[in-house]
Amino acid sequence: MKKIVLAYSGGLDTSCIIPWLKENYDAQVVAFCALLGESEDPGVLKERAANAGADEFYFEDLREEFVKDYVLPSLRVGAVYEDSYLLATALARPLIAKGLVQTAHEVGADAVAHGCTGKGNDQVRFEVTAAALDSSLKMVAPLREWEFKSREQELEYLKSKGLEIEDKGGGKYSIDRNLWGVSIECGELEDPWNEPPRDSYVIVKPAEEAPDKPLDIMISFQEGKPVAIDGKKMEEVELIDELNAIAGECGVGRTDMVENRVVGIKSREIYEAPAGEVLHKSLRALEALNLEKELVLNKRKLSLEYARLVYEGKWFSPLREAIQNFCDSSAKRLSGDVKLRLYKGNATVRGRRSEHSMYREELATYTDRDEFSHESARGFIELWGLPLKVWGAKEKG
Ligand code: ARG
Repeated sequence: MKKIVLAYSGGLDTSCIIPWLKENYDAQVVAFCALLGESEDPGVLKERAANAGADEFYFEDLREEFVKDYVLPSLRVGAVYEDSYLLATALARPLIAKGLVQTAHEVGADAVAHGCTGKGNDQVRFEVTAAALDSSLKMVAPLREWEFKSREQELEYLKSKGLEIEDKGGGKYSIDRNLWGVSIECGELEDPWNEPPRDSYVIVKPAEEAPDKPLDIMISFQEGKPVAIDGKKMEEVELIDELNAIAGECGVGRTDMVENRVVGIKSREIYEAPAGEVLHKSLRALEALNLEKELVLNKRKLSLEYARLVYEGKWFSPLREAIQNFCDSSAKRLSGDVKLRLYKGNATVRGRRSEHSMYREELATYTDRDEFSHESARGFIELWGLPLKVWGAKEKG
């Protein structure tokens, strides 16, 4: 290998990977950083990468692409993994991998590398994506190869190479954070019986500390895309940022689950996705109002499959794209407003309206304005229940 592009986070593992790759693969190392939400100052990251011996440093602000091309498409589908996880980490990985591949092409690299462990989903997502985008690139996963077993050993290694990297400490938990959410694991969370400690959640207030007064908000959608909060129009990145703050303050958006990883392990993880929870609930409410019955039911089934594909690293796959197209075509009818109440950890839908509404008051009403054909119901029920009538009579003998 002559040149390797590394997904660089600025942490100890990926800093240690730089000299390790140079030593073990005799290659130049390009550090690639993607901004998907919160981040350290790019100047500081660049300096850390340089201190660890990186030959080049690339920093890209991918927030808008992340939201437009990954987060909102998954929202339109209604993608939720195992009933709970809104996929913040899983959606970010294919985009970072795409950035790695593009950077590899730009700098003439023949390999890409990442700092994921051999037990997680992220290694799968990075490598499956990179292979789908350019199968000629080689892949290196140093954490699956090297002998270091602790932070101390990594620091020792850096020292032996004469490299000075400030140790910011590992923290009690492993945290992955972007605009769409926070994923938190390890530490005390590894025992699924342990309640998440106070300090484990990052952006959502404990429900009991949320304001005593409920907060009513309205989210407006244009063709399945959230465009305004309380009538105030916003670009998508700003809207998600703002909604994270609003809903997080009300204690909305926490999840605690045991999930099935791709590699077969069950793991306990907690998540925070305040904007995600509000937007998913709102858009489902609009779907229920606007979409035809069979479409809604079938979309639900497809969204399960889609969530699994995203979770399992198959973002760039023909099935994911086909389901996307299916859902995007129905999302054209998802314009309208949803009112919600945020109160001590709950987001409750309180009203919905849309120009595409299929709700017909003259059909639903129990008043004298009723236009539903009651006499048709009799014949309908007769035929609808006919198989069961025959079966029931037969059973009785
Ligand atoms: N379990 C989540 C997923 O597979 C998050 C993984 C990363 N989590 C973390 N805390 N570093 O998408």
